[in-house]
Amino acid sequence: MRGFLLFGFSNNPLYCYNTFMANRVLIIDDEKDIVESIANILALEGYSVLKAFRGYDGLKTALQDNPDVVLLDIKMPVMDGLEVLEKLIENGFSNPVIMISGHGDIKTAVEAVQKGSFDFLEKPLGAEQILISIKNAIQSIKKVEDKNKKNDFFLIGKSGAFKRVLAIADRVAKTTAPVLITGETGTGKEMIAKYIHKKSGRKGIFVEVNCAAIPEELIESELFGHVKGSFTGAIDDKEGKFVAAHNGTLFLDEIGDMSLKTQAKVLRALQEKIIYAIGSNKPVPVNVRVISATNKDLKKEIEKGSFREDLFYRINVIEIEMPPLRDRKEDIPLLAKHFAYLAAKENGLGEMVFEDDALEYLKTFDYRGNIRELKNKVEKIIILCQKDKISKKDIESVLSGRIGFGCIEPSEVQKKITIKQPDLLKAKTLKEVREIAEKYFIIEKLKENNFNVSKTAEQIGVPRSNMYKKLEHYKINVKELEEYYGKD
Ligand SMILES: Nc1ncnc2c1ncn2[C@@H]1O[C@H](COP(=O)(O)OP(=O)(O)OP(=O)(O)O)[C@@H](O)[C@H]1O
Ligand SMILES: [Mg+2]
Repeated sequence: MRGFLLFGFSNNPLYCYNTFMANRVLIIDDEKDIVESIANILALEGYSVLKAFRGYDGLKTALQDNPDVVLLDIKMPVMDGLEVLEKLIENGFSNPVIMISGHGDIKTAVEAVQKGSFDFLEKPLGAEQILISIKNAIQSIKKVEDKNKKNDFFLIGKSGAFKRVLAIADRVAKTTAPVLITGETGTGKEMIAKYIHKKSGRKGIFVEVNCAAIPEELIESELFGHVKGSFTGAIDDKEGKFVAAHNGTLFLDEIGDMSLKTQAKVLRALQEKIIYAIGSNKPVPVNVRVISATNKDLKKEIEKGSFREDLFYRINVIEIEMPPLRDRKEDIPLLAKHFAYLAAKENGLGEMVFEDDALEYLKTFDYRGNIRELKNKVEKIIILCQKDKISKKDIESVLSGRIGFGCIEPSEVQKKITIKQPDLLKAKTLKEVREIAEKYFIIEKLKENNFNVSKTAEQIGVPRSNMYKKLEHYKINVKELEEYYGKD
């Protein structure tokens, strides 16, 4: 197997230079023969190789030259591999380190992995085994970079309740303590979990498992992976989420919905820090930080016998309770402005702002769906109410469904402005396209005919009774439109 190191093409000379640079691997081992034979294999595959024969020299080279991957032997005189690994991490070396050890030493493997190594190879080493591990290590760097780019987000809030949540999150982020996030639906449990991961500085990625959404018969394979042929339908090896989250964070969402059988397996994995893929008896050490979330009361679930008490204490070292939106009302204006900005941007609309009375009005709802409900409301208002400044009255019209689209300003200038043409490409079906276009067309024609329904019907060739049916179907309230546009 050839490990390809040259990715992609580009016309940009600088980019070409970077993409064609070989990846650099540092080998640290006191046995010269082993170093030379690995170096030969790697050089043939196009890697640039650095060598060190003592722990201390290896440490110095790694910190000076920052290789992409380090292959590090455990048994070395004076400074052994585990010590080198510890010092590398202490000094901020963040690229993957692959440990090499004597045969069958699972205890050391677990220790190395817990200290932050990327992988673990047993002697005698096979060329393919080394190349696969290095390739995975290099891919992992890219995976983390991509994921971090995608995970960019803002947490909005200034209320005391929200600041208290942030303070706990900040304090626990750098530790490895398991965190349980509780709270009603839509309160931001997942957002906080991502925030903790981002602040943790962990090298791996944030991996999410929605325990409620995965069917019972698939959840174990999802969590621990499986080997080809281990059950009907296992047509290939599959990596589990525990392995994917190695050195990162595993987010067990809706953990209250996990079956007792899976709970037992997860508990064992968390206690032993080792997992077994379905159909394999090879122990795989993993280093994951677990964050769980639920909107259930787990203590009640324990009483009912549907949640294991021992698992509860393992995942619940730190509990963060997300406050419902009704207890942080002063955050509503900030959140609303933020969601308005996002909705306008996503829908290609110009900037729209809420007037003060609109922001106050938004505070008055009870938001059983919490922040998600507020976000959806604001999105609806922005899409249906396309104007620069949105007032309380506009919101009332949109939310009551009286105005289908376009809250049109009653001012003289606005009177003459036609509502923004709807984007037909946003429709999912032909029927939707027809409906959007028809509604827009009818409103425009009503305006042209000074809100005279009969005249409009005649002009567009629709029998009058049919026209009233259409107005009802599209919830077009002619009186309301007239009020907004003003009759000429
Ligand atoms: N502080 C915040 N700032 C900005 N947006 C937020 C904030 N908190 C939550 N959101 C947004 O609110 C929505 C709901 O958040 P999230 O999915 O994290 O809630 P949840 O508690 O996990 O919900 P559920 O219980 O339904 O899974 C998301 O769209 C998220 O982006
Ligand atoms: Mg959630």
